[in-house]
Amino acid sequence: MIVAENLVKEFRLAERKPGLAGSLATLFTRKHRIVRAVDGVSFTIPAGSKTAYIGANGAGKSTTIKMLTGIMTPTSGRCLVRGIEPYRHRKTNARGIGVVFGQRSQLWWDLSVPDSFRILHRIYEIPDPVYRRNLALYRDLLDIDALGTTPVRQLSLGQRMRAEIAASLLHDPPVVFWDEPTIGLDMVLKDAVRHLVNHVHRELGTTVVLTSHDITDIAAICDSALVVDRGRVVHQGSIRDLLRTADRRSVLFDHRNATAPERACADIEQGLPGVRASSAEDGRIRVDYPVDRFTSRQVLAFLLERFDLVDCYAPEPDLEDVLRRVYGGGRPGTVPAEIPCRPAAGGA
Ligand SMILES: Nc1ncnc2c1ncn2[C@@H]1O[C@H](COP(=O)(O)OP(=O)(O)OP(=O)(O)O)[C@@H](O)[C@H]1O
Ligand SMILES: [Mg+2]
Repeated sequence: MIVAENLVKEFRLAERKPGLAGSLATLFTRKHRIVRAVDGVSFTIPAGSKTAYIGANGAGKSTTIKMLTGIMTPTSGRCLVRGIEPYRHRKTNARGIGVVFGQRSQLWWDLSVPDSFRILHRIYEIPDPVYRRNLALYRDLLDIDALGTTPVRQLSLGQRMRAEIAASLLHDPPVVFWDEPTIGLDMVLKDAVRHLVNHVHRELGTTVVLTSHDITDIAAICDSALVVDRGRVVHQGSIRDLLRTADRRSVLFDHRNATAPERACADIEQGLPGVRASSAEDGRIRVDYPVDRFTSRQVLAFLLERFDLVDCYAPEPDLEDVLRRVYGGGRPGTVPAEIPCRPAAGGA
């Protein structure tokens, strides 16, 4: 459905020297440097899936989406959206896709939201019943009427995003590319947007490609993940597969309290070196273990032998932790997942 084959996008940037003299010199210099924003990316996104396109700032997500939506032409390689090369057939491609770029507006800056929608109604030749149905839905879910007739340029970021999201779906596109669609939205509206995209996907089987730095968006919407790091794909598969790449896992258990919690934690950390144990207020003990040193079977066997277990469960690894490691990937200045605590010197 959506295919990228060795997709590359390079930008040519003039070398800039510092200071005013440097800026002036740039006007006459012929020195350039090449930035490879997308570095040979290949992937296939199946029809009807909801894929999170994940990566740190500058990883090349927006640039890839610009090529998929036809705004940019690849330097080399190619991509196909529903069998169409988007940059060669921009208009045909546009009819089959809905696009939101949180960082830049797709709407007419000087027009009000209702006027923009009326134009989109005509441009996309949306059948009247479809237009009326969608308008009613977005009015309801995104409170579009509250935006009134204010020109788009005067709307707040969150107000504009509500209009952008509704505009991207007005023509029932089979594919939506949403690049940071919840940027600037408050919690209630973020929830409404997540609900809306899931509703549209359920009703119409829409293929969703979403980038977001909000992990909750990814968890609430997506079933698949495409992870890019410095212009290259480093993981493609289900979110579940991505979670399986976690380097730490956890077990929580209740036991009959023969030993004090602090003592129990110390016993676990001593018996399983490299494992971290902590007790919660409810008396439950949490054990975090590195998967390269222990299997869940070994950890459980140890706990069963030492404690009189009443109940025990293993929560899903934390998506945020997994992504922190992917994003970190040897970058300088990365904050470790857990910062060791030092006792404060000299009181408060
Ligand atoms: N028009 C452009 N001219 C020059 N360089 C660009 C241009 N657009 C993007 N880049 C560079 O390409 C790289 C990838 O940028 P891109 O916007 O695709 O990243 P991103 O993954 O969307 O990041 P973010 O999460 O911050 O939105 C960055 O190094 C960026 O500076
Ligand atoms: Mg971006």
